[in-house]
Amino acid sequence: MVTEVKKTSVDPNETPAIQTSSLTKTFGNLIAVDGINLEIKRGELFAFLGPNGAGKTTTISMLACLLKPTSGTAMVMGYDINREPYKVKQIIGVSPQETTLSEHLNSMENLALVGHLHNIEPNKIKVWSKLMLETMGLTDRAKDQVRKLSGGMKRRLSIAMALIHDPQVIFLDEPTLGLDPQARRAVWNYISRLKGDKTILMTTHYMEEADYLADRIGIIDNGKIAALGTSPELKTDIIETHTMVVYAWNLTQKVIMELRKRYGIVEINNGTMTISDKRLDFKDIINRLHAVGTVVRSAYIKEPTLEDVFLKITGRELRT
Ligand SMILES: Nc1ncnc2c1ncn2[C@@H]1O[C@H](COP(=O)(O)OP(=O)(O)OP(=O)(O)O)[C@@H](O)[C@H]1O
Ligand SMILES: [Mg+2]
Repeated sequence: MVTEVKKTSVDPNETPAIQTSSLTKTFGNLIAVDGINLEIKRGELFAFLGPNGAGKTTTISMLACLLKPTSGTAMVMGYDINREPYKVKQIIGVSPQETTLSEHLNSMENLALVGHLHNIEPNKIKVWSKLMLETMGLTDRAKDQVRKLSGGMKRRLSIAMALIHDPQVIFLDEPTLGLDPQARRAVWNYISRLKGDKTILMTTHYMEEADYLADRIGIIDNGKIAALGTSPELKTDIIETHTMVVYAWNLTQKVIMELRKRYGIVEINNGTMTISDKRLDFKDIINRLHAVGTVVRSAYIKEPTLEDVFLKITGRELRT
């Protein structure tokens, strides 16, 4: 069952950019994508967050008309992926998880190749290619054969290639996999700039990436969307238990007994106390600690993370 935190209503006058209906893909007995129903608004940046094998790439491949659904369908900007794949392909850009670059061509030539496939005028291709390479920090490697580029550089080029024909909908499958922190930040900045103008569906393993970039996040597990919402919605509505962390001198069993009179979970580990409950009263906790002679050095309420959300929903940690 999908834990939909808040239903973001879609303007009835504007069809969603992506709308899936019971989208399903099986490989033999394996259900890779299990009847996904999802609406992504125009201009929205939606992130699929999920572990290996969750069904992220399979979903994107179906939406990008690279793989036929076993059953169900989807509309991309009003076009049906089963009935109008050629229409869909004209208005989308895809940066696949496994980059598909021509290794013997250089970066400019790879971009030009995609530009020609989309019937863009040669002059425009030249200007846009230069701009894309600059944005992705690849200007000085423009004339290098792709086989000589590092993994991270190839990924940045692959993103540039997905964007060269100015598509309306962009699929980015693990856009920052293998990038160093600086390059990742540059790609984040670029993706952020596209927000609102383009509709973007991206996949990621990185919580912080989904947190930073996405308007909404779909946590995908075993081919199903297990939770859906904005990052704050997911955190506050799914994580009902709050946690307070206290660093203090004289943390003893007596202190634990005192706090357990009111709060559910109280633990001490290496001079650090954690108190978890549905309701935490910061002042009350500090007062109780002082009353039993504890000297508090510092204390704070821990904000829930997407990692906590993922753990709560799936019972597993995302990073394995
Ligand atoms: N062509 C295929 N033939 C058989 N099984 C496949 C095929 N493609 C994907 N699968 C299986 O479908 C499931 C979903 O795979 P998918 O690649 O969509 O996962 P993912 O969420 O993208 O994972 P990752 O994070 O590792 O990229 C996996 O169990 C995978 O082994
Ligand atoms: Mg994948």
